[in-house]
Amino acid sequence: MAREFTSVGVVGLGTMGAGIVEVFARNGIDVVAVEISAPALERGQATLTRSTDRAVAKGKLDPADRDALLDRVTFAVGLDALHAVDLVIEAVPEHLDLKQRIFAELDRVCKPDAILATNTSSLSVTEISVATSRPNQVIGIHFFNPAPVMKLVEVIRTVVTSADVVADVEALCARLGKVDVTINDRAGFIANALLFGYLNHAVALFESNYASREDIDAAMKLGCGLPMGPLALMDLIGVDTAYEILDTMYRRGGRDRRHAPVPLIKQMVTAGLLGRKSGRGFYTYERPGSPVVVPDEATPVAPADAFSEGGRAIAKVGVVGSGTMATGIIEVFARAGYEVVSVTRGAEKSASICEAVKTSLNKGVVRGKLSEEERDGALGRITWSATLDHLADVDLVVEAVVEELSVKKALFASLDEICKPGVVLATTTSSLPVIEMAMATQRPADVVGLHFFNPAPVMQLVEVVRTIRTAPETVATARAVCAALGKSSVVCGDRSGFVVNALLFPYLNDAVKMLEASYSTTDDIDHAMKLGCGYPMGPFELLDVVGLDVALAIQRELYLELREPGFAPAPLLEHLVTAGYLGRKTGRGFRDHTHR
Ligand SMILES: NC(=O)c1ccc[n+]([C@@H]2O[C@H](COP(=O)([O-])OP(=O)(O)OC[C@H]3O[C@@H](n4cnc5c(N)ncnc54)[C@H](O)[C@@H]3O)[C@@H](O)[C@H]2O)c1
Repeated sequence: MAREFTSVGVVGLGTMGAGIVEVFARNGIDVVAVEISAPALERGQATLTRSTDRAVAKGKLDPADRDALLDRVTFAVGLDALHAVDLVIEAVPEHLDLKQRIFAELDRVCKPDAILATNTSSLSVTEISVATSRPNQVIGIHFFNPAPVMKLVEVIRTVVTSADVVADVEALCARLGKVDVTINDRAGFIANALLFGYLNHAVALFESNYASREDIDAAMKLGCGLPMGPLALMDLIGVDTAYEILDTMYRRGGRDRRHAPVPLIKQMVTAGLLGRKSGRGFYTYERPGSPVVVPDEATPVAPADAFSEGGRAIAKVGVVGSGTMATGIIEVFARAGYEVVSVTRGAEKSASICEAVKTSLNKGVVRGKLSEEERDGALGRITWSATLDHLADVDLVVEAVVEELSVKKALFASLDEICKPGVVLATTTSSLPVIEMAMATQRPADVVGLHFFNPAPVMQLVEVVRTIRTAPETVATARAVCAALGKSSVVCGDRSGFVVNALLFPYLNDAVKMLEASYSTTDDIDHAMKLGCGYPMGPFELLDVVGLDVALAIQRELYLELREPGFAPAPLLEHLVTAGYLGRKTGRGFRDHTHR
């Protein structure tokens, strides 16, 4: 029989603690909520009231249930109020000495059989447990932010945590409607170990002016379907908390440089820019604690139109290539009303890409996404050619040929000879340096990257890649074209992986390394990222969809360009690719898809 928990204590009512109080009280458990001082207690109480009021306003909670929920919570200053509870969860700032002091005190105050739990994200639960005389009753219960919303709880057992305690806590998680994964005590557990390298990298991109905060966040939301971008997430987590987590992970997790907090984070903490809780972090909020972003001096001013920034008028577009991306891009331009000239390497290829575009447009008609007239109109705007000379009078060329530098460079040299002056020359490369293509022409200022995502007609995002030679009006034109296509564009520098792949693939590679180290299973790691961080797919699901060979190639490029030891491809990924386990396309990758 699992143990009944009738009352629990929560220590620290900040970002996490207040949410944890709500989770317990919502599920009919009495809570004693304690803070260090009266003002802090008041703040915590106000957070809880605001959150439950919001739930009522959104129709997610009955007013009567809210009152009952709040009645279950007793507020107090100091740990003495916790003498009768069955379980305590500590959620004070991420400092080992502070947590150890609190656990020593809890050990003194609490009933002998009370379970003592920490919500630490990165500190050693074992080191915290030895501050008590009952390390076998100490456990990690790691909730995710916001605690009332996120389904995942990581349960961390140390080498001495008793099996009964683990079982009781697992049963409690189920009662709270949470999904738990039980794991050993390692820095960052599952989710944070995979998340924080990514967050730190995103801050580094922002710090180096590689892309704006809005563009970095939009790229990850639109390119990967994440619920929020990394910088907005840093603000939600708390910049100070994120700093402590990174710092601890760096020191505990083998001094991986990717966890060494980038200098900007420390500067922001020192300056009091802590994120939502202080009203200002990477973004500015309506008031402290508010989720509402308000404009500040860094908010981009939308130009009146592209032409005010020197953008050029584009009416006729050439698309070179006959693969998946070219097919999608032709469709996107034709549907948006552009005249399109498709150029392939031969009549046969032209016939097959023409068929592919027709099939896709017909599917759109069947699904009610466009009318028959729109389909016919789009098809009527496309000419099919096997000769680059037909690009002499287009205003924009989008190159989507094979991902080989020599081929692309030769093509750009030809385009330079054929195309009229003032044309914008764009490459859809996802891994090659755009500047290489630019320098194959006599007009590098007119060359830009237009990185579409697959499938192009569906994916909202386009990365506009600016080289050190790209003219501002070329970028303005590219952005205006994306807007006319109904796409969101983000502008970034010419570095391997641009924004999305540079941030996504090292995370996927880290997940493979975690699996390789036997720390957890594919299912638990996928669960952790979906339920703890709201990702639409877990890393192994995504790798199987993307293709392990594609992932390996991108990861290799990132490693070769940036020489970051942490980016070295996971040996397991290499082995799976060698074995021909490439994911869904071969029936097997991290999972076997043949029987599904
Ligand atoms: N922020 C997140 O997204 C997140 C997610 C999961 C876990 N965590 C972990 O949860 C813990 C709390 O983080 P947070 O972001 O809520 O921090 P926070 O700074 O928002 O809140 C900490 C609270 O603890 C209180 N406190 C400090 N000393 C205390 C004491 N001696 N006694 C009682 N209360 C005290 C503070 O007044 C403050 O209200 C950390 O271990 C963190 O790593 C954070």
